[in-house]
Formats: sequence, structure tokens, C-alpha cells
Amino acid sequence: MDKFVIRGGRRLSGVVAAQGSKNACLPMMAAALLAEGVTTLRNVPRLADIETMADVLRSLGATAEWEGPHELAIDTTSVERYVAPYDVVRRMRASIAVLGPLLARFRRAEVSLPGGCAFGPRPVDLHIKAVKELGAKVDLRGGYIVAQAPALKGKRVNMTGPAGPSRGATANLMMAAALAEGVTVIENAAREPEVADLVNMLRAMGAQVDGGGSSEITVAGVEHLKPCEYEVMNDQIEAATYLIAGAITGGDVAVEGADAGYLSLFDERLAAAGVTVEAGGDGIRVRGSLPVAPLEIRTAPFPGFPTDLQPQMTALLSLASGRSVIVEGIYPDRFNHAPELGRLGAHVEVTPPTAVVNGVHRLYGAYVMASDLRAGAALVLAGLAAEGETNVRRIYHIDRGYERMEDKLMSLGASVERAQEE
Ligand code: UD1
Repeated sequence: MDKFVIRGGRRLSGVVAAQGSKNACLPMMAAALLAEGVTTLRNVPRLADIETMADVLRSLGATAEWEGPHELAIDTTSVERYVAPYDVVRRMRASIAVLGPLLARFRRAEVSLPGGCAFGPRPVDLHIKAVKELGAKVDLRGGYIVAQAPALKGKRVNMTGPAGPSRGATANLMMAAALAEGVTVIENAAREPEVADLVNMLRAMGAQVDGGGSSEITVAGVEHLKPCEYEVMNDQIEAATYLIAGAITGGDVAVEGADAGYLSLFDERLAAAGVTVEAGGDGIRVRGSLPVAPLEIRTAPFPGFPTDLQPQMTALLSLASGRSVIVEGIYPDRFNHAPELGRLGAHVEVTPPTAVVNGVHRLYGAYVMASDLRAGAALVLAGLAAEGETNVRRIYHIDRGYERMEDKLMSLGASVERAQEE
């Protein structure tokens, strides 16, 4: 296993480019199953999660080949199986995105239940509800979702879950509805730009979908879809992580491809913390100075503050001049980073769904362990600001979502080395 060895305390400065969006790309790879032939995706990040989805597609009989550094060609001509097996699905929850497309194309799908994740239970009831509403019969058998639908029929479906709309279930429903009979209206659809990007890809495949980015998406089913070429949007969670790297080191960092529309609330919170934020041209630039001002943050579905940036903001606020309050509105237990930040000297008290962060003057390097992707990113950020050497272990979590993180940080002047864990 690899680890990062970070020598902290350097002020980062310079420009990095955002990678393609992992979370937009994963369901798009599944959407390729809706048509027979070669679909080409561009701006695809080179990440472990993308490889896992490619393996899911291969297990169904598709091929997935890199045609360029960030260009992935998916050939679905020979897809003949409709079973997504446990040994690939367990590696990544987002594999459940093949449920809707398989059902639409083969009228059958068997997808292993993904199980929990590091920050609490993550049910799949809304995914199952989505396909049932279109007429699928669904059983849970031997750890698998077994779905059958001789016919899929469009209808009005409300997708609200306990924590608001679900992105993944909205995507599955759209993909199944694209080849269903009649019109499906998705009420309380997820409004994330990643969902809107999938809508645009489905349109490029010939689907009749409207309303991407709004809370009502309408899908008029068609008989066939065609393969397409599509350029994936940029990864705003990755972009914001590097912006926080600038802020937490009192540096001056610009990220090309960071989108001020997507990140408007994030930018507003950073500015409220005293960071200078300039959006313009092709990206966002931050200039930071420590300590930052304390903040109140509540995570919520888009356009709310993204839960996927909560751990990284917690790292920044650990160096604030006072007491911050963070309420996790989506995953009440998503605070695995708190005790690890504590090893670096941060004061974070967690009473789910809330964390109170009492800012400290300094963090000090230590051995810490990444427990999931964004918690890992938070530890790297804290390590960049900490005095001395920080060893972040289990960085395979970070590699799931950040392409060449150490290279990007080093290009900004950080000292980050990938080494073997002893
Ligand atoms: C996506 C993102 C993930 C992010 C999350 C929330 C991808 C690949 N991943 O995950 O990085 O943290 O959105 O912004 O895009 N829920 C149910 N039942 C379901 C499905 C979800 O109750 O069947 C709940 C979840 O537990 C959660 C909320 O709905 O509280 C939102 O989850 P959802 O939008 O589905 O998250 P993902 O699409 O899995």
C-alpha cells in the first residue's frame, strides 16, 4: 500500500487544471449500455473508480479501451450478460448505475447489492423504487437486486428520499425511462450539474430528455438510442480541493476549469472565511492568509453546500480564529476525518450530525490514516499546513477520486512524496 509523505508549511502558488468529473463520468459509462456500438467519452479522469466501472462493463461483455490519455471508448456490441457481480460491485457503490440501463436494454438486470460505506449506511431503496415505478418486478435474492420488466412504462415518479433527492436514483430512473414506453416525469429530481451533464449525454444519444438541472425532469421514451461522443464536465469537487489547498497554506492558487456557478456557495463561504476569491476567465483563484474566520456550514443537496467538500472545509476551519459549526445534512456520520485531524492537533468535537471545530494556531505533522476518499483529501490538506512531516496512510482511497494528486500539489510548490507503507 502507498502513503503520502508531506512536509508541510509551504505556501502553495500557481495554476492547476481541473480533471474530468468522476461523479459525472461513472453513470455516463453505464449509459453507454443503452445503445449498441462504440460510445466515446472525453475528459475522463484516470482513477481507480473509473477502472472499476470499466470492469463492471467488461464483466457484462463490453470492451472499454483507452484511446488517449483521457479518452475512453466503450463498445457494447457484444454485451450479452445482465448480471453485475458482487466482486466488482462491492468495490464501488456507483456500480449500481448499470441497473437502469441493463433493464432498459435487456428487460432484465441482476446487480449485487453494494453494501455500506465508510461513513454509514447508504440504502438503495430509491433505485429499486425508480425501476419498480416503471413496471419492473424486483426481488432481493442472494445479495442481488433481481429485476425483470417485460415492458417499461413511463409515469410520474417522485424521487424524494429522507435526505432530499438522490443523484444515483435520478440517473437510474432517467436511463430506464429513456427506452420505456411513454412519458416519465421525475419530480424532485436531483439538481446536481453532474445529473444535468448526464441529461446532455442522453440527448446526444437521441433520448428525449428535458429539465436537467431542475427538480423536474421529463423523459419521453424512444425505441432506440445511438452511441455518441461526449465530453465530460470538469470535476468541481477536485477543483475546490485545490482551492482549499491554496487557502490553508496562505497561498495563491488558481484552478482552471473551476466553475463559479457550481461552486457559488463554496466561494461565498470561503470569502466569508476571509479568503480572497476571484472567479473569472476560465476558473477561480484564491489568495489566503491565516487564520481564517470561523464559519457555519450545513451540507445539503445542490445548490446547497456539497457534502463531498465537508471534510476538506473541516480541515481549513481547524485553523480558524474561533469556533465553527458544521452540520452534515446528508450523511450524519461523515466525520471519520475528525479524530485523524485531531492527531495533527485540530480540535473537532463530533455529535452527529454536527461537528464543532475550535480553531487552533498550528497543526503538527503526524501519522494519519485515510478512511475514505474525501476524508483522505482533508488529511492531505491539513498535512500541507502542518509543521513538520505528515504521513497519510491508505491513500488508495484518495486515488479513487484524485488523479495524480501529488504531482498537482508539487507543481504548486508542495512537498508530497508517494512512498510504500512500511
Ligand atoms: C452521490 C455522489 C457522492 C455524494 C452523494 C451526495 C456519485 C457517484 N457519488 O452519491 O460522492 O457524496 O451523491 O451528494 O455521484 N438515499 C436513500 N436511498 C437511496 C439512495 C440514496 O435514502 O436509494 C439517500 C442517501 O443515503 C443520502 C441521500 O439519499 O442520504 C443522497 O444520496 P445520493 O444522491 O443517492 O448519493 P449517491 O448518488 O450514492
